[in-house]
Amino acid sequence: MKIEMEKIVSLCKRRGFIFQNSEIYGGLGNTWDYGPLGVGLKKNVKEAWWKNVVYEREDMEGLDSAILMHPNTWLASGHVESFTDLLVDCKKCKKRFREDDLDKHICPECGGELTDPRQFNLMFKTFVGPVENEASTVYLRPETAQGIFINFFNILTSMRRKIPFGIAQIGKAFRNEITPGNFVFRTREFEQMEIEYFVKPGTDKEWHDYWVNERLEWYKKYGIKQENLRLREHGKDEMAHYAKSCFDIEYLFPMGWSELEGIANRTDFDLKQHTNYSNRNLIYFDEETKEKYFPYVIEPSAGVDRSSLAFLIDAYKEEEVRGRKRVFLSFHPDIAPVKVAVLPLLRNRGDIVELSKKIKKDILNQYVTVYDDTGSIGRLYRRQDEIGTPYCITVDVQSLEDRAVTIRERDSMQQDRISIDQISQYLKDKFSLLH
Ligand code: GAP
Repeated sequence: MKIEMEKIVSLCKRRGFIFQNSEIYGGLGNTWDYGPLGVGLKKNVKEAWWKNVVYEREDMEGLDSAILMHPNTWLASGHVESFTDLLVDCKKCKKRFREDDLDKHICPECGGELTDPRQFNLMFKTFVGPVENEASTVYLRPETAQGIFINFFNILTSMRRKIPFGIAQIGKAFRNEITPGNFVFRTREFEQMEIEYFVKPGTDKEWHDYWVNERLEWYKKYGIKQENLRLREHGKDEMAHYAKSCFDIEYLFPMGWSELEGIANRTDFDLKQHTNYSNRNLIYFDEETKEKYFPYVIEPSAGVDRSSLAFLIDAYKEEEVRGRKRVFLSFHPDIAPVKVAVLPLLRNRGDIVELSKKIKKDILNQYVTVYDDTGSIGRLYRRQDEIGTPYCITVDVQSLEDRAVTIRERDSMQQDRISIDQISQYLKDKFSLLH
């Protein structure tokens, strides 16, 4: 089924996943706010990633470095010089374009004459302290990676690590993108999940292949369909200034195949550069072999927003049920922002409401559970389907007598009548089957 981006944008607004930022002021272009369900989705994506790449491994440490760093970081990394796009301006309508987006050297909007291309740095600048001058200039980080490189030695020594090992970090990054768009796919403020994995030179190719495979499997494990994922190797002309080789994991977004995650071999570029620009020698000494070397780095770099968008698109389903369209998100249970909803059949019956709230409270210890009585049962199911809640528990008049409830599964809509004291075991069995 081909899914248009408008459908996803509309569902995200309708159901509280993602809102236009500054909407009451007319909106700030290509800037988005994550609402109650969006926060849950993003949090789950980050947790699934962290669990997989940090907690479940023996060779990884976590980090949360500051967004602002010493400005020399960006001189060393090459971003001041090379993190640029070639831009042209229209002399007539004054609009600005990326040169590589244009087929012909005329303005695509008004046909006007264009200026010669000029380099435009994508980093946002700001100032520390009250004086705005060159000496106080700092940048909002355009990647979280550099926070990892400048902490390489701190982590190596404090955690008594040996090569190979990795450092993982999740955090905001900022780029003054010229052509943002496609909802949260390309924005100026976004979140990255990055790993810098340090290896012995000569073993880098093998580790690169390993990480490409690991990361592909992660997306599949959490529900992205195999046919919507592909690998693409970068050509020499499109590689970042630090990379020796790079693979993109691409997803079939509504606008076509586009990058979901990049996995680059950054060689020893960054550690050598920081050694040259700082007063620290970041060379590694291998105690066993007595060798000294700058480790090579394999970098799987994913976007939280892009992954969340891919999970939303891949989960989006429409079907006809008794002549009516049903929309639901078939999220993997770990990705679903809400796991269980408890719904009273009659909201004006105090005894049913009380029992429903008690059931919700009991389940809440194990699963994110909501109680909802804001509409008829049909409407309540529709809402839970559209936010991708795997199980709905309905409490009815009979529940007061037989101490049983109806549990409805999201994708099949199959309903089971379960004794209240069996709910916990029932959900445990069902969720473990879905993993
Ligand atoms: N440290 C390497 C690096 O930053 P990148 O390919 O420029 O590499 C990695 O970015 C990932 O970050 C991308 O695959 C994408 O998921 C996400 N990303 C990059 N720019 C983005 C933007 N403007 N908006 C949303 N996500 C972005």
